[in-house]
Amino acid sequence: MPKNFVPQDRYLKKAKELGYRARSVFKLAEIQDKFKILKPGMDVLDFGAAPGSWLQYAVKIVGPKAELIGLDLQSIEHIAGNIKIFVADIFSPEAESLIQKNHPALFPVILSDLAPATSGAKEVDHLKSIELNERVVSLAEKFLAPHGNLVLKIFQGGDFDGFVKNLKSRFSRVAVFKPKASRDRSFEVYIIARK
Ligand SMILES: C[S@@+](CC[C@H](N)C(=O)[O-])C[C@H]1O[C@@H](n2cnc3c(N)ncnc32)[C@H](O)[C@@H]1O
Repeated sequence: MPKNFVPQDRYLKKAKELGYRARSVFKLAEIQDKFKILKPGMDVLDFGAAPGSWLQYAVKIVGPKAELIGLDLQSIEHIAGNIKIFVADIFSPEAESLIQKNHPALFPVILSDLAPATSGAKEVDHLKSIELNERVVSLAEKFLAPHGNLVLKIFQGGDFDGFVKNLKSRFSRVAVFKPKASRDRSFEVYIIARK
């Protein structure tokens, strides 16, 4: 075992100890530490929110007055706070109208930890991830407030540079970030973009 080996599953253990539903919470925590995207009172839209650890974390920062909306293909168990949860496919027109009806104002923060069902074939999974992210970017163009922050999870691959280049033409600041809590062998990275 290499000297500096850090067992990644300590994140899962720690998440459970702290009452979070997934180890992904630490990735958002690192993004928050570095980019300070969440502030008290900010409404949050969370795509790919199941099982709910990002919502659990975000509600602690934005507080009880802010509204949070979580959307996923999977159902999400109740989370205490001002949180609405919807089961929908982000590609469906229904997802868009649910957001519009339930939160007519624009969001200062949109989060996406969306991940496709993985096939194990890196390029195939990358292309599915690009598709999800293109949909999120087009939803963000409708629902993200000026100067708002968008967080995207993306599986790297051949179209990654083109995707980032395109994002840079539409957003003012685009940063690529690999949290320590993201498994070393995983080809996922996060993008933090400011409108
Ligand atoms: C890594 S998990 C999200 C974990 C979450 N951030 C948390 O902390 O609990 C990725 C999620 O994306 C969802 N997802 C994938 N494709 C989707 C789609 N087309 N529409 C909505 N959700 C989708 C999956 O159902 C899965 O729950």
